Amino acid sequence: MAKFLEDARILSNMNFAPDLWSLRLQAPRMAAAIKPGQFVKIDLGESGHILRRPLSVYQADLKAGEIELLYQVVGSGTRLMSAWRPGETRSLLGPLGMPWPVPEGTRRALLIGGGIGTAPLALLDQQLKADPAITVTMVQAAQTAERLVARGFFERTVDTWLCATDDGSAGACGLITVPLEELLATQHFDVAYVCGPEVMQAPVARLCAQHGLRCYVSLERRMACGIGACAGCVVKTTSGLKGVCMLGPIFDAEEVCWDDNVASRVR
Ligand code: FES
Repeated sequence: MAKFLEDARILSNMNFAPDLWSLRLQAPRMAAAIKPGQFVKIDLGESGHILRRPLSVYQADLKAGEIELLYQVVGSGTRLMSAWRPGETRSLLGPLGMPWPVPEGTRRALLIGGGIGTAPLALLDQQLKADPAITVTMVQAAQTAERLVARGFFERTVDTWLCATDDGSAGACGLITVPLEELLATQHFDVAYVCGPEVMQAPVARLCAQHGLRCYVSLERRMACGIGACAGCVVKTTSGLKGVCMLGPIFDAEEVCWDDNVASRVR
């Protein structure tokens, strides 16, 4: 579907964990158009920030005409967003990017989410669970139990939910690869979907490859335009440089040159 601009009214903007916020917007056209994996860009208003902020969509309620975005306050733009109040209006651009692919014949899907990056897996979960033939297992990771984004939603909706936290306050103590290795050693999946920081995605993608599991990742880049015009969002792939905003953000993990990409992100 073609991208469009929509003026969205803020319904709520709530802090649910340290630095983590939920923004609910009345945006009926976007709620109807957005597909799991796609993202929107939101205008920061009269703030002096020229560039719209890219955000993935956590929930889309077609009936109510609402979407919900989860974000983490990491800089001046997101700090500004945290001061937004219900009733204000912001301009949305979207839907942007390509949705998660669901391979023909998928019966057992594995969702793998880290930090705030877990949020966009919710729409995919709903899409998968709409097919009674598909079972969904999820492994989620965060620094602490209270930072397990949308934990209640995922625990309720997936068939099996596991987690890991850095401090051991919920689930396995340590990296997400701890519960994941055990899971992949004992169970078969048709496809894995990964969203979170790239330092997490790279070892997860390697693990999936070792087990012969098809794996899709959602990559993040700074996105100036979001519509393929600035070439500022490229990643190295086995078939050359690709723009995340138009050809992503979803990529087959096997085509991503992880060493080059992760190195350039953490430098
Ligand atoms: Fe400009 Fe992708 S953000 S080309």
